[in-house]
Amino acid sequence: MAASPRAFVLRHTRLRPVPGLEEIRLHLADEVLPLWHAVQIETGDPDAALPYWAFAWAGGLAIGRHLREHPEVVTGRRVFDLASGSGLCAIAAMKAGAMDATGADVDAFAATSIALNARANGHRVSVVRRDVLDEEPPDVDVILAGDCWYDARLAERVLAWLHRARDHGIEILVGDPGRAYLPTDELIELALYEVRTTTELEDLERKEGRVYALRPA
Ligand SMILES: C[S@@+](CC[C@H](N)C(=O)[O-])C[C@H]1O[C@@H](n2cnc3c(N)ncnc32)[C@H](O)[C@@H]1O
Repeated sequence: MAASPRAFVLRHTRLRPVPGLEEIRLHLADEVLPLWHAVQIETGDPDAALPYWAFAWAGGLAIGRHLREHPEVVTGRRVFDLASGSGLCAIAAMKAGAMDATGADVDAFAATSIALNARANGHRVSVVRRDVLDEEPPDVDVILAGDCWYDARLAERVLAWLHRARDHGIEILVGDPGRAYLPTDELIELALYEVRTTTELEDLERKEGRVYALRPA
């Protein structure tokens, strides 16, 4: 990597309120393809992942709205935000009164963004930058999984891990706009929100983001 991930994130994003969740500010980008290209150059990796961390995704936006309406889901509890990206769900949990929050992501720029964004909102969020899906679930009360059902293999691994977490007594909240690999048979719908996203990422500016609990065993 040529510069520090922090310098790269700051250079390619702007701190601004999240549409529909204006009380949260994130370092966000406007366009995905130029930034993806910059990531490929910066990392020297033509297969570098999409810069998910520079956008607030529909699934995370739905979880954020849900936590604003129902802070009791996380108030005073320990929260783990799987596939955290920008850290949106972890930050929303802290705003709703969580005791502590951890954001986990495999992407180095996401890890940097989670920390930067948490600080920009006056919160501390711990960062785990590794793939936890082959590990035992963490010692927390609630797991948030925002928008992680877009890839078949990832979805299969996330579901198996969430099942293990549920069997440990952890409460699970999934947020999703209807991605291809969403395991609807395994979920109970709790809420539906119209969320504002961008046609840089989606077919429409407004999407229906649903929040689900994991069905009991
Ligand atoms: C579509 S983004 C969602 C980000 C955020 N939750 C939101 O809703 O705005 C999916 C995120 O999953 C992360 N991811 C992919 N595989 C992962 C894994 N095995 N463990 C943790 N995060 C992963 C990606 O790096 C990306 O940041």
